[in-house]
Amino acid sequence: MGSVTGSVDLAGCERLQYDYASALRTLGPPEPFTMWRYRELLPIPDGPVRYPLPIGGTPLLPVPALRESVGTPRLWVKDETRSPTASNKDRATALVIEDGLRRGISTITTASTGNAAVATAFGAAAAGIRAVIFVSTDCQPEKLHLMTQAGAWVFQVPDGYAAAVDLSRSAARTFGWLDRNTGANPYTVEAKKTVAFEVWEQLGRRIPDVVVVPVGDGPTLVALDKGFAELVSCGLVTRQPRVIGVQAEHCQPLVRAWLGTPAGPEELDPAATVADGIAVLRPAIGDAVLDVVRRSGGGMVAVTDAALLNAVGTLASRAGVGAEPAGAAALAGLAAALERGLVDRSETVVLLVTGREVKAGGAPADQGRVAVVETLDEVERVLAGDR
Ligand SMILES: Cc1ncc(COP(=O)(O)O)c(C=O)c1O
Repeated sequence: MGSVTGSVDLAGCERLQYDYASALRTLGPPEPFTMWRYRELLPIPDGPVRYPLPIGGTPLLPVPALRESVGTPRLWVKDETRSPTASNKDRATALVIEDGLRRGISTITTASTGNAAVATAFGAAAAGIRAVIFVSTDCQPEKLHLMTQAGAWVFQVPDGYAAAVDLSRSAARTFGWLDRNTGANPYTVEAKKTVAFEVWEQLGRRIPDVVVVPVGDGPTLVALDKGFAELVSCGLVTRQPRVIGVQAEHCQPLVRAWLGTPAGPEELDPAATVADGIAVLRPAIGDAVLDVVRRSGGGMVAVTDAALLNAVGTLASRAGVGAEPAGAAALAGLAAALERGLVDRSETVVLLVTGREVKAGGAPADQGRVAVVETLDEVERVLAGDR
């Protein structure tokens, strides 16, 4: 099978050294229950955490009514929508900014399909640094509104998300900004792996049989697997769960690579799906996703927009959890995985619900902080005179 990734690798994560012989053995009571409780396995030195928003410690819900309607009595929902900006992107943002604050950096940049941008805008605002965001021109207006409300500069890139990533990354290199781009900055994976530690604690120091995860660029899934692998390295568990990745039918490069069948153009059309958060044509760490799925004995499934919208409704009506379509993809994916025999109904299954629809109140977006750009020179011109 050929490579399906962009240029990013995970070497940065592999170079980080932790003391697995002693980590997580003496965890205190979970108060406050935040991701910093796992800092023995995070790349930040001792000393007070400077990042001001509460991060992690999201609930693992037993979802009795959902269990009954799906017919899976040991189903759990890890509800990442309870994060400060309603998505799991807050974890990555927090760790990247924590590192940046320690290094005295005053501007952070990222490209995003939407949620990472909102998390970065709000995280930067809370930490008192500048956020410069790059999105595709079809990014949801509601999310743009939120970014500018938090004081971020937002650049819309007509050539789409991949071009936005390129511009953000070259801006970071050229201007010395903190690069939060998912998959590029290994700290995004380090932060998101804490979900695995939380699930393990919340299940009474046990791991599930299967986890089901939406896949865009890939760090959410790869990080979850890394967290479980580190629990094995620490000698705290003896095996890892199978990992099932979910993509939208209209944008399923990794499902097609997994199946080894070529994708038709209608299956590689990010603008065509309701699941904008996972609509990524060239996933930054797609090869690592496929490797995890293969090693863990899991699989990749594609789900229709109708199934995604249905999952949003079912999560609301049977679990009391509000999710956006990309955030609800794990539930739609579970149905597909059950159908294909990838999951047995008696197994302990955790669905990662990654994001909720967000709405901006207050005044409309400050159009003075939004510009359409194609080059770094244009970015520099717009920002000239700012700080
Ligand atoms: C709601 C939601 N779920 C899942 C993902 C996919 O995460 P990753 O890019 O880490 O695969 C995203 C990415 O933006 C998202 O916004």
